[in-house]
Amino acid sequence: MPTPHNNAEKGDIAETVIMPGDPLRAKFIAENYLDNPVCYNQVRGMYGYTGTYKGKRISVQGSGMGMPSMAIYSWELFNIYGVRNIIRTGTAGAIADNVNLRDIIIAMSASTNSAYASQYNLNGTYAPTASWCLVSEAVKATEKNGCKYHVGNILSSDTFYDDSESLSSWQKMGVLGIEMETASLYMNASRSGKNALTILTVSDCPLKNLSTSAEERQNSFRDMMEISLETALNI
Ligand code: HPA
Repeated sequence: MPTPHNNAEKGDIAETVIMPGDPLRAKFIAENYLDNPVCYNQVRGMYGYTGTYKGKRISVQGSGMGMPSMAIYSWELFNIYGVRNIIRTGTAGAIADNVNLRDIIIAMSASTNSAYASQYNLNGTYAPTASWCLVSEAVKATEKNGCKYHVGNILSSDTFYDDSESLSSWQKMGVLGIEMETASLYMNASRSGKNALTILTVSDCPLKNLSTSAEERQNSFRDMMEISLETALNI
């Protein structure tokens, strides 16, 4: 029962899906970490694979960039394909002063400037939150891996190129970093009664004009990938 965005049939996708933004990263993970990976989706080049990691069935699929793209794929995974857990793995810009290049951020909650929550007709401000079962396993996996990490609130932004220069205002509120997908993922998970978590590696510090090299990004991506797979293994 394919959707307009995903060619998979019911049963092709595992209960736990790791979602990098970049579909080529999904391909990389499948080819380098999964045993017997099978590609279930190529629509729009948004690759999805299912295989096994240390004997456990796991899928990995690209989400694309931005909350609308993440929302389409994650909604279908949760509500059509029976997925129970989604772990987003991505990059973030540092906002908090003590967050440095290559650090890991485990996103406990996601503030946002997006209007995604308006569809729920809530009389207030909804707080998109990760699932504790995933947060606690990710912390254990990160401690074992030895990376420097932070757990807290991030900003999911609709803009990468932003005229409002609002980062220092978010910094005053203790926000750790900025990315563009997590708030809609967490809202979809809550609305569907499912689990979600975002694990990020810091690729740049917009307030300090710093960024990682391509090689550093590749290495820190591998750390984050291994943390995400170990988290997936233990839930
Ligand atoms: N802004 C938004 N998204 C990002 C950034 C950023 O600076 N870095 C990595 N993802």
